[in-house]
Amino acid sequence: MKKILLTGVNGQVGHALKTKLADYEVLALSREQLDLTKTHDIKRIVRDIKPNIIINPAAYTAVDKAESEPELAFAINATAAQVLAEEAARLDAGLIHFSTDYVYDGTKISAYVETDEVNPVSVYGKSKLAGEAAIRAVGLPHIILRTSWVYGVYGKNFLKTIVRLAAERDSLRIVGDQFGAPTSSESIADAVVQLVSTWQATQENQTGTYHFTNDGETSWHGFSCEIVSQYNALVKEKDWPTLKAKIENISAITTADYPTPAARPANSRLNNAKLKQVFNVQLPTWQQGLQQVMQNFII
Ligand SMILES: NC(=O)c1ccc[n+]([C@@H]2O[C@H](COP(=O)([O-])OP(=O)(O)OC[C@H]3O[C@@H](n4cnc5c(N)ncnc54)[C@H](OP(=O)(O)O)[C@@H]3O)[C@@H](O)[C@H]2O)c1
Repeated sequence: MKKILLTGVNGQVGHALKTKLADYEVLALSREQLDLTKTHDIKRIVRDIKPNIIINPAAYTAVDKAESEPELAFAINATAAQVLAEEAARLDAGLIHFSTDYVYDGTKISAYVETDEVNPVSVYGKSKLAGEAAIRAVGLPHIILRTSWVYGVYGKNFLKTIVRLAAERDSLRIVGDQFGAPTSSESIADAVVQLVSTWQATQENQTGTYHFTNDGETSWHGFSCEIVSQYNALVKEKDWPTLKAKIENISAITTADYPTPAARPANSRLNNAKLKQVFNVQLPTWQQGLQQVMQNFII
C-alpha cells in the first residue's frame, strides 16, 4: 500500500484530502507537527516517515498579507517546496504539489493553457511560481496542480463569507470583472484520489504541471449570486423558512471599486484539457461543485 505524507491537514484542501484518502496509509500533519519554515524539521520528518508520495497543500495563502511578508511567503511557498522535493527525490518518492491561477497576469483574452507565459502580479503569485520552478529543478516525478478560487465546507472562505453577509444585509457589492472557476476543496480531493490511484511515477510523460479547477467560469459576482440562489433553494427544499437569506440585491462592482493590497488577475480562467488528456480526470462544473458543498454545509 502506498504511504502518503500529507502536509497542511488543517487547511481547506488538506482537510478534504485526509478524509478522502482513507484507503491509503496517510500521515497527515498540521503546521504544529510539521512547520514548513523549519528546513531541518522537514528533512527529519520526511526521512523518518519514508513516504511513497508527498502531497503538499500547505502554503502561505494570505494573498494581501504576503505583500508585506514576502520572506515568509517565499520560505513556505518556495523554499519548503524545494526541500520537500529534494527529500522526496532522495527516497525515490513522488510529489503532488498545489499552485495557483495567480502565476498569470490575467491579460490573456481566452483561458490559459499550461504552456502560456507566466507573469505573477503579486508576491503570493511570485512565491508560488518560485515553488513550481524549484520542484521542476529538482527533477523528481511530480504533479503540480494549478487550482483557483478554493472554498469548501471546512475553513474560512468566500462561500462562508457570502452566506453570513446574506443573512445580515439587504444588499451586497461584489467584484464582477474578475473571471475564473470557483473550485471546491471536495472536488479537488476527489480528483487527487483518482490521480493517486493512477499515477505511475515511472511514467515520465505524467510528470508536469496541470490546470486543475472545477469546470466552467464565472465572476465573483456570479459566484455570490449562485451561492445565495442555491442556499435559498436548499432552505426551501428542507422547509427551513427561518434560515432564508435576507439579501435582496447583489450588485456587480469593478476591481477598481474594491482596492486591495495585492493585485489580482482579471482573467483567472484555466483550461483543464491536459488533465483530461493525460489522466482522464475531470472535475465537475463549478455549479455542481457548489451543490455538493452546500448539501454538507447546511446540514
Ligand atoms: N485558497 C485559494 O483560493 C487557492 C487558490 C489557488 C491555489 N491555492 C493553493 O491550493 C493549496 C491549498 O490551499 P487551501 O485553500 O487549502 O489553503 P488554506 O486553507 O489556507 O490552508 C493552508 C494550510 O497551510 C498551512 N500552513 C501555513 N503555513 C505553514 C507552515 N509554516 N508550515 C506548515 N503548514 C503551514 C496552514 O496551517 P494553519 O491551519 O495552521 O494556518 C493551513 O492549514 C495551496 O497550495 C494554495 O496556494 C489556493
